Amino acid sequence: MQDIIDKLEAKRAAARAGGGEQRVALQHSKGKLSARERIDLLLDPGSFEEWDMFVEHRSNDFGLAEQRIPGDGVVTGYGTVNGRLIFVYSQDFTVFGGSLSEAHAEKIIKIMDQAMKVGAPIIGLNDSGGARIQEGVASLSGYANIFQRNIMASGVVPQISMIMGPCAGGAVYSPAITDFIFMVKDSSYMFVTGPEVVKTVTHEIVTQEELGGAMTHTSKSGVADLAFENDVEALLELRRFLEFLPSSNRGQAPERTTTDPLDRFEISLDSLVPNNPNKPYDMHELIEKIVDEGDFFEVKPNFARNIITGFARLGGQSVGIVANQPMILAGCLDIDASIKGARFVRFCDCFNIPIITFVDVPGFLPGTQQEYRGIITHGAKLLFAYGEATVPKLTVITRKAYGGAYDVMASKHLRGDVNYAWPSAEIAVMGAKGAVEIIFRGDDAEEIAKKTEEYRDKFANPFVAASRGFIDDVILPRNTRRRLARALRMLQDKKLENPWKKHCNIPL
Ligand code: HXC
Repeated sequence: MQDIIDKLEAKRAAARAGGGEQRVALQHSKGKLSARERIDLLLDPGSFEEWDMFVEHRSNDFGLAEQRIPGDGVVTGYGTVNGRLIFVYSQDFTVFGGSLSEAHAEKIIKIMDQAMKVGAPIIGLNDSGGARIQEGVASLSGYANIFQRNIMASGVVPQISMIMGPCAGGAVYSPAITDFIFMVKDSSYMFVTGPEVVKTVTHEIVTQEELGGAMTHTSKSGVADLAFENDVEALLELRRFLEFLPSSNRGQAPERTTTDPLDRFEISLDSLVPNNPNKPYDMHELIEKIVDEGDFFEVKPNFARNIITGFARLGGQSVGIVANQPMILAGCLDIDASIKGARFVRFCDCFNIPIITFVDVPGFLPGTQQEYRGIITHGAKLLFAYGEATVPKLTVITRKAYGGAYDVMASKHLRGDVNYAWPSAEIAVMGAKGAVEIIFRGDDAEEIAKKTEEYRDKFANPFVAASRGFIDDVILPRNTRRRLARALRMLQDKKLENPWKKHCNIPL
């Protein structure tokens, strides 16, 4: 028996060693942790249960017969984060560059299937040279099998990809299907084709970082949601992030006790909105003053900054926040903002997270650039997402809610449950000046000014909408936290179902 135990220990040690000391040192020298160190940081201490550490590839071509490393370049299993079950795979760049063989893929697939059965999030820590080149199509089938599971798991369990090294070629499409992509600055990159191919095909000269680094994807392309400074920060923030999410679409996000009183007044909010309707203010201030302990986990903070999306808690309950940002493009909805908002709303709706929307929107962004790129189709995504969402929807209009954008931003007409407006709200077809210039085209400047004042008095307020019941109440800004918290409690057993369908046909 002792012999077998010794053999087991030796095999375990070989698997744990991955690609060996030298390669691990090389990994460290690039500022990257090893696959196992990453799992240790992500999970609660001692909670990791590893599977398949003895799996090896089955290839014999191109010298692979002599190179079999137990685990085959990916560490898989389950464990807990703050006591809650998650499944994780962590690619080991020290073994064949973390490249994906058929066996490597089977390990990932196994934990994905199990996560689906028990209803727990799937976390991928990606650090891979892509398809195991020596294996050819067997590796490609492995990818496709993962993609198919990503698709089936979408909306069932949260899926999060943490890119911590290379992620290139078709390999990018597994993260792309998952709910959130996080990246590590300077050590991770994602692209469909690398700089060399780009140079050959388009003659562009571009670095890896410029083409697909963390800053590119979090600010230019919007492919990734957040960029972190290093592996440690990334994994600790991932732990914090998971706290806002339920384990699956069958459950609720965990409730956390809060010491922040629900009836906390915020007098300063009464003066947040400037008297001049063209003067911006920072919507972040409003969010942070309303949510528990000012704790707001923003996603995509550097992409489409005219709309803010992120998670927070109100009375201990996890909520998704969507807010127009008057500081950027005056808070207009453009293509990027519509897509960013729509995807976020749909995530919240998949996973039973109530949505709170703060509205200050002068409309959709005008111009040929937007029209030619299809603002009609893309703007409709946000409208569609809000309209199909059945989770509790709470809305506060702080200032402008003009035109179609008023309808889109979780209005009563799109099944908003509780719609409040601040006294400073202006709910109208458009701003007073623009409206008068259209209706009274040709009038002299003095007459226009007079009519503008008249229009503003009549429509640039929340009371016309409130008189029709489109706004449930006009509330004092200082009371917003209390009013929202009460509404959220009232809605905790909300039940609403959409008609049966195979799936919807959102304008893609
Ligand atoms: C097999 C690979 C590998 C791969 C890296 N390695 N990528 N082995 N298949 N895809 C091995 C290297 O041979 C090397 O082994 C070790 O991993 C470390 O790689 P290095 O090149 O020394 O590391 P580094 O200099 O950091 O460069 C990393 C890299 C580079 C940029 C990722 O390795 C690279 O370009 N790899 C190929 C990437 C690629 O073209 N992949 C296929 C993409 S297409 P030794 O033993 O020498 O240390 C794809 C299709 C997916 O993935 C389709 C899905 C539908």
